[in-house]
Amino acid sequence: MTDSTRLNPAEEIVLGRDFMTLSQHVLSQFGTFSTESYDLSALMGRIGLAGKTIARHLSRAGLVENVLGVTGEVNVQGEAVKNMDRYANRIFLRAFEQSGLICRLASEEMEKPYYIPENCPIGRYTLLYDPIDGSSNIDVNLAIGSIFSIRQQEGNDESGEALDLLQSGRKQIGAGYILYGTSTMLVYSLGNGVHAFTLDPSIGEFILSQENLHIPTKGSIYSINEGNFWQWEEPMREYVRHLHCQSGNTARYSGALVADFHRILFQGGVFLYPGTVGHLDGKLRLLYESAPLAYLIEQAGGRATTGTQEILDVVPKELHSRTPLIIGSLENVKVVESFLQK
Ligand code: AHG
Ligand code: MN
Ligand code: MN
Repeated sequence: MTDSTRLNPAEEIVLGRDFMTLSQHVLSQFGTFSTESYDLSALMGRIGLAGKTIARHLSRAGLVENVLGVTGEVNVQGEAVKNMDRYANRIFLRAFEQSGLICRLASEEMEKPYYIPENCPIGRYTLLYDPIDGSSNIDVNLAIGSIFSIRQQEGNDESGEALDLLQSGRKQIGAGYILYGTSTMLVYSLGNGVHAFTLDPSIGEFILSQENLHIPTKGSIYSINEGNFWQWEEPMREYVRHLHCQSGNTARYSGALVADFHRILFQGGVFLYPGTVGHLDGKLRLLYESAPLAYLIEQAGGRATTGTQEILDVVPKELHSRTPLIIGSLENVKVVESFLQK
C-alpha cells in the first residue's frame, strides 16, 4: 500500500522550506493559536501583500505610466512626491481596508493619520510606515524599501490626533522593512529575534531565508553622506577624519536607508545620518524610519543612538519628528558615541 501522507526525505525538506511562509512563521513564533497570534500573523501577511504588489509595480517601472517621476505635489516633509511614493502609500491603505486589523495608519506621506472606522472597534493595531524609502533611487533603478512599525492603540483617540503615538519606540510591538533589491526581501521582528524572508515570485510567497539574524559586534563598513561633511558639527567631522586615517574601512552609501541598513545588519559596521548646521535633528524621521530600525537592531544585538540618547528612548514631539541616527554594530556605534560625548 503506498503511503500518500509523506514524500521522500529530499522532497519533504523542500516542502518544509517552501511552506515556512511569513504568516506561518509568525504563528510559529507564538507557539499558540491565540487571537493575538492570528491577528499578527494576518497583519504580517497583509504587509507581505503590500510588498509583493509594490515589487510587481516596480518591476515594470520603465514600461508603464506613472511609476517613475514625480506627481508635482509636495508632501508634509516639504519633499517632492514621487509617483511611487503615492502608489505605495495607497497600497498599504488598501491592504488593511476590510481587514478588521488596523484602525489607524500613519505615513511619511500623510500629514495626519488615516482611520479605517469599520476596523476601529476591533482592530487595536496602528501601522506607522514609510511607503517608499530612498525615493531618489526610483528613477535610476536602484534599491529602495518600505519601513513599518506596529503599535497597539492606547485609548479611543477621540481627538483623532493619535496623541498616544507620541511615545518612545519602546512601545513598538513589532517592526521591519521590505527591500526591493536584486531580490525582494522582508525582514521583521515581533520581539523574538530578527528574521528574513525572500520573495519567491513563482509561488508569490515570502519564504523564510534567514532566522534569528545577529549583527556582527564590529564591522569595517561605514555609511554616511560625506557630501554633508562641512555641515556636521566638529565632533562628527573628527570621527570621520579618524576613519580616514585608519586602514581597512570601507565606505558604502546608496541613498536608501533601508538598503544601507540591510548591508550593515548582515555585514556589520555603522550607518550615520547626523544633524547638520540648521537641521540639528537631521533628516530621518523617528516614528517610521529610525525607531523601527532601532527596534530591529536591538533585537539583532546592535545599537542605535542619536549620539547622546538611545533611539528607542526618544519621545517624539509630533508625528513627523526627525532625529539624528547612528545605528549598527555595538562596538562601532560606541566609538561614534565616544567622539560625540567628548
Ligand atoms: P525617503 O525617500 O523616504 O524620503 O528617505 C530618504 C532618506 C533615506 O532613505 C536615505 O538614507 C536618506 O534620505 C538620504 O538622504 P541624502 O540624500 O541627504 O543623503
Ligand atoms: Mn525614508
Ligand atoms: Mn519615503
